[in-house]
Amino acid sequence: MNLAEIERALRELRLSGIAETLSTRVMQAQASQEPFLETFAAMLQDELDRRRTRLMERRYKRSGLDEKVTLADFDWRFNPKLPRSACFELHTLKFIAEGANALIVGKPGTGKSHLAKAVAYQATLAGHDVRYLEADTEFGRYALGNATERGSLLKEWVQPDLLVLDDLFLARRISEHAAEVLQAIVHQRYKLRRSIVVTSNRVVQDWGKYLGDATMATTILDRLMHRCAMLEFEGKSYRLKEAAARIAISPEAS
Ligand SMILES: Nc1ncnc2c1ncn2[C@@H]1O[C@H](COP(=O)(O)OP(=O)(O)OP(=O)(O)O)[C@@H](O)[C@H]1O
Ligand SMILES: [Mg+2]
Repeated sequence: MNLAEIERALRELRLSGIAETLSTRVMQAQASQEPFLETFAAMLQDELDRRRTRLMERRYKRSGLDEKVTLADFDWRFNPKLPRSACFELHTLKFIAEGANALIVGKPGTGKSHLAKAVAYQATLAGHDVRYLEADTEFGRYALGNATERGSLLKEWVQPDLLVLDDLFLARRISEHAAEVLQAIVHQRYKLRRSIVVTSNRVVQDWGKYLGDATMATTILDRLMHRCAMLEFEGKSYRLKEAAARIAISPEAS
């Protein structure tokens, strides 16, 4: 076989990681006269690296996250009252193994969604199956679906290791169907000991009002909070800081 034929055979065998670096590895082996096993090991590593990267990318895509958020660029000085160590504790992902939940509640623009997305992204990197939902939008979609569509959405939201419900009750009242699916998700995941992270800028005392049913709110919160990290985000909005910075640098302002 010549090089082109070997490359074709590698692709047929779905060894695209080896195929991609083959010509470089051949040159490297010739230049350094390294033992065959060393070259072979490097080629296998190329294949493993590529498979791991693709798997991670697939997991990220399936998660529904729209950005790869991390805590690395988070400014902890901006709102000094944030529960920093609880945030990092969550970021260790131990709560997923324990089947525990997290409830992140507090003022707008303080970084609740940022934290939830960073934890969700970290979980995809750690190999967990994750679903991130902008709660109101997805529950709205659920409410509009027919029975079959609703069934498959509910299944999709019960199955993953971690479910993130971001910005719950952003639009205050949610529809009856949305409330029902929230209850179904929480009840079923509770039984299966699968973690949920919820972010909301509405205090839990008001959830009954937004669900239109106080008893339902109690049964949901009861299960959600049974094994749960409670994080309160007090402080000022980072969005306002960013908006102020934009005004300060725009020419119209000067
Ligand atoms: N301390 C911070 N350092 C850096 N960026 C921050 C910080 N706090 C918030 N942000 C950024 O500000 C924006 C708003 O934050 P985020 O969406 O997380 O707020 P939130 O608490 O979820 O607000 P809401 O209750 O309105 O949903 C995001 O782009 C986020 O990355
Ligand atoms: Mg948010």
